[in-house]
Amino acid sequence: MAESMKGLHRSHRCTEITTNDIGKTVTVMGWVQKSRNKGGIIFVDLRDRSGLLQIIFEENDIGADGFAKAEKLKSEYVIAVVGRVEARSGAVNENLATGAIEIRANELRILSEAETPPFPIEADSKTREELRLKYRYLDLRRPDLQRNLMMRSKVATLTRQFLAGEGFLEIETPMLTKSTPEGARDYLVPSRIHPGSFYALPQSPQLFKQLLMVSGYDRYVQIVKCFRDEDLRADRQPEFTQIDMELSFVDVDDVIDVNERLLQKLFKEVIGVDVTLPIQRMTWQEAMDRYGSDKPDTRFGMELKDVTELVKNCGFSVFTGAIAAGGSVRGINAEGQGNMPRKKIDALVEFAKGYGAKGLAYLAVNEDGTYKSSFAKFMTEEELKALVDVMGGKPGDLLLFAADKNKIVYSVLGALRLEIANNLGLLDKNQYNFLWVTEFPLLEWSEEENRFVAMHHPFTMPMDEDLPLLDTDPGKVRAKAYDIVLNGTEIGGGSVRIFQNDVQEKMFEVLGFTKEEAYERFGFLLNAFKYGVPPHAGLAYGLDRLVMLMAQMDSIRDVIAFPKVKDASCLMTDAPNVVDDKQLEELGIAIAAQEEAAKTE
Ligand code: AMO
Ligand code: AMP
Repeated sequence: MAESMKGLHRSHRCTEITTNDIGKTVTVMGWVQKSRNKGGIIFVDLRDRSGLLQIIFEENDIGADGFAKAEKLKSEYVIAVVGRVEARSGAVNENLATGAIEIRANELRILSEAETPPFPIEADSKTREELRLKYRYLDLRRPDLQRNLMMRSKVATLTRQFLAGEGFLEIETPMLTKSTPEGARDYLVPSRIHPGSFYALPQSPQLFKQLLMVSGYDRYVQIVKCFRDEDLRADRQPEFTQIDMELSFVDVDDVIDVNERLLQKLFKEVIGVDVTLPIQRMTWQEAMDRYGSDKPDTRFGMELKDVTELVKNCGFSVFTGAIAAGGSVRGINAEGQGNMPRKKIDALVEFAKGYGAKGLAYLAVNEDGTYKSSFAKFMTEEELKALVDVMGGKPGDLLLFAADKNKIVYSVLGALRLEIANNLGLLDKNQYNFLWVTEFPLLEWSEEENRFVAMHHPFTMPMDEDLPLLDTDPGKVRAKAYDIVLNGTEIGGGSVRIFQNDVQEKMFEVLGFTKEEAYERFGFLLNAFKYGVPPHAGLAYGLDRLVMLMAQMDSIRDVIAFPKVKDASCLMTDAPNVVDDKQLEELGIAIAAQEEAAKTE
């Protein structure tokens, strides 16, 4: 039977009580973590979001009825306790914030009883994630998730405070809107009033924030949900949160400056980490050449080396063939891994194939200076020595080479260096390496669509000196686009925007839109640009990813209260789900695909 809390007011959260409060009477409320009856004395660990507190029940203090009630306490009961703060009678518990004190109860109310939960409410849960997600409201009681969500709240609060101080205005943009061009698939919402028409949920507020600049708001920020129907991964959710901002009358350095100071503040105040400014910058080209990735993890070396020139006339046809076809040969040096067993090397070859490699050539430098290699027999002694020298190979090192089109070589070696570092335990979660990657290519050739697509989005400004190339060699144009990368994860990205109508129209043309199509899709932006546009630029962070790294989690699900799983469903609510025929009828929608799917099952 649930009792009322009438007349009681919680005075403290559990861990707000300290040795300074000894002798005071306090009122605490929370969940029973565990209860131990030692005959005549009952110890209860009380839990709330702040942590644990030990309560002691003895008949002398609480009376026979109160003691009988305490005897009934079980895990997850919700109780209110009034009692006196005392120094711990037993040994001080160093593991608890409140380990030096306890509460001697003189009143107990059971506010809510609880069934035995389907899994223990504890840190570092061993329970499988599916079960935890089905009962997410219980999972969220666990101290590690509570810590993560409190950290997330702190990041949001500090961000708002800091950016307000920098003159940013928080302005909301619509959720029911028109398709925005961030490159993923849209989530669509059917319109009842306009049968056959659909809203799109925003992939980002990109166009609206640019329009706010046209409207003179100058500096905008929003902590905002974005929706992208793409394949999920550990760092991707179909709905996720951005810290989204846009600034007027600025260029690249201004955006970077305010964001570096924001990051410095967040990391210091939330996790006590000093971020040294300025943060390192690297062009996209350099990032690709040195790390094979546009989001390099710079916590370790193992950098790529281009050996194309060196091997272009050697006797190994895998190398020369790739070069003749316009590709390159590059390698990495896994230092000290020369004794890697054949089986493990084969596993790396298979891993490389997963990234499109046709194979992976290897060369181990033996302690006696001889080689163990998959291609040594095709090369002269001199050629091999020169190759090993360029790679910085010492006895005991393992050199791995990929020969292919540049794009594949980068992606294979970029992934391989991460895989090896991971296998060797070289990645220290306590080290926070930030990096700005700048000067991204404006465009990317899409084999699938047989046209250029925007690498960031179609509103990104080309670099001033590359503007003429837009007519002659669009693939070579670099953009005023930048990503902020932390330990190999892209935590944010942005760009300076095109603010001249003629450049924007040209951009659409290069992307293969006719003028009519461009106006049909983005007419509101192009028209707005006719009425006075400030130069503007912006950036958006993935808040979930940022907090994931701060909390040192491996999955963004661990920093989202109610996340979705890989197939984009919610295990707790069973969304998505079927709806009433009546709802469909009102929307003018008939389900066709379902019957087809049922037939083929
Ligand atoms: P972009 O598409 O790079 O830029 O997104 C910005 C940041 O959002 C995060 N992010 C995601 N996080 C979780 N799940 C996802 N599915 C997901 N997709 C993206 C990433 C990414 O860096 N409008 C532009 C920003 C701008 O130009 O100002 C934009 O949305 O951390
Ligand atoms: P093969 O001539 O196909 O037997 O390959 C000889 C060696 O070169 C093997 O170790 C292959 O894994 C490796 N290899 C094959 N294709 C490539 C490639 N594109 N890049 C690097 N190594 C390769």
